[in-house]
Amino acid sequence: MEEAILPLLIYDKVSRGEASIRVWSAGCSSGEEPYSICILLRELLGEEFENFSLTIVGSDIDEEILESAREAIYLPRQVVNVPRPYLERHFTLQDGRYHLGEEIRSMVKFRNIDLFTRTAGSHFDLVLCRNVVIYFTREMQERLYMRFHSSLREGGYFVMGNTETLVGEASSLFRPAFVRERIYRKGADGNAP
Ligand SMILES: C[S@@+](CC[C@H](N)C(=O)[O-])C[C@H]1O[C@@H](n2cnc3c(N)ncnc32)[C@H](O)[C@@H]1O
Repeated sequence: MEEAILPLLIYDKVSRGEASIRVWSAGCSSGEEPYSICILLRELLGEEFENFSLTIVGSDIDEEILESAREAIYLPRQVVNVPRPYLERHFTLQDGRYHLGEEIRSMVKFRNIDLFTRTAGSHFDLVLCRNVVIYFTREMQERLYMRFHSSLREGGYFVMGNTETLVGEASSLFRPAFVRERIYRKGADGNAP
């Protein structure tokens, strides 16, 4: 994300004269994924951050877990993979827990969405759905992959979990961008910006 996808996405936007980025983290649980993407965009955009309009949606079916996502308070083991400089810039340590700063917190909108009934919208540049579909039958997975495909703009990225595999019609509609990382693109050729 940090070394390839997000820089490519930003490059793509800047070269088209566009300044909006739309991200959907589907089945986001306690929010680590959408917040991580937001921190990376903040870091990569630097001073340009303010000139971009970012839509970052985290969705889940579990209201209780969404409440903890909105709170954005994490145990040390939950932030163990956050690079030290990002931890220092975006979190404060209080009573042994890491509190995410308001700047990042306020950028991510959490919504209660059952993936089988609706989506978070359309024209997303990036949709992530990791470690969610493993619980569903193949037929249900096929439906969800088609749903994610229609939520993306042409050339948008789809990220799935390391142990997951695209199935059904979607496997011919997405092209692999980064195979090992299970990152796909809608329509456009693999690594092209
Ligand atoms: C194992 S967690 C994965 C969390 C995160 N994506 C990750 O990789 O760390 C699976 C999440 O999917 C959510 N989930 C399960 N069924 C869902 C559905 N039909 N619609 C939306 N979210 C669902 C669960 O509530 C849970 O938070």
